[in-house]
Amino acid sequence: MTVHFIGAGPGAPDLLTLRGRDLIAASPVCLYAGSLIPEAILAHCPPGARIVNTAPMDLDAIIAEIAAAHAAGQDVARLHSGDLSVWSAMGEQLRRLRALGIPFTVTPGVPSFSAAAAALEAELTLPALGQSLVLTRTPGRASRMPEKESLTNFAATGATLAIHLSIHNLATVVRDLLPAYGADCPVAVVWRASWPDQRIVRATLGTVETAVAGSMERTALILVGRVLAAEDFVESSLYAPGYDRRFRPQDARSPFAGAGE
Ligand SMILES: C[S@@+](CC[C@H](N)C(=O)[O-])C[C@H]1O[C@@H](n2cnc3c(N)ncnc32)[C@H](O)[C@@H]1O
Repeated sequence: MTVHFIGAGPGAPDLLTLRGRDLIAASPVCLYAGSLIPEAILAHCPPGARIVNTAPMDLDAIIAEIAAAHAAGQDVARLHSGDLSVWSAMGEQLRRLRALGIPFTVTPGVPSFSAAAAALEAELTLPALGQSLVLTRTPGRASRMPEKESLTNFAATGATLAIHLSIHNLATVVRDLLPAYGADCPVAVVWRASWPDQRIVRATLGTVETAVAGSMERTALILVGRVLAAEDFVESSLYAPGYDRRFRPQDARSPFAGAGE
């Protein structure tokens, strides 16, 4: 028996990895974080599967469900939204399973920032303009932020920001970022990226509060940075016609000539 932790992606049932889909289909028990995972994902479960929404459960109850499946010799598909490496609460579950000697695997998923960028048809790292992306959030009732991980500190870097779990704090986000990024800095808010009712608001730091006007809650990502509206960025050297590189030596004198693979 194995517990398969699976990144269930941003919402669309076909934005799962093939491995994730196959593990769900092969597991007679499915525990899913129902606050963020749409029911359409559960269509991948086999007929007759025991399907449990863990949104109203505490950690003890979740582990008890897993332990019961373990005792019955049944594999469990444990689904969290997006990818498991960020804000999934997987860490605390794995620690309990290690202590109990219950085997598990981890299968990554499409994170919401990737789905939001795809919805915006945007590359978040553009040559010379933005080469770093910060995945962050603002503090919540249940989660304090480490002191140095403030938005104002990240703003000092000028990096592109993907701010999760914070649409209800939009006014604070704007207040903290305005001094470093300026009122004309592009902002995009993507609500339910990849869901059938996905919505996008494009604005600036100066206008985003009015543009959103409280119309979005919970499942929204706030992206901030000059890369979002840039058209005049330089092209990368990588594909420049005269750029000498291992995979495209310019002539026989190139140090890469004959280097092949
Ligand atoms: C608990 S975190 C989960 C993050 C997830 N593990 C990931 O890889 O994106 C929930 C937050 O992720 C963002 N989020 C998750 N799914 C989203 C989606 N489909 N569209 C926009 N934002 C999403 C929102 O900021 C939401 O408040």
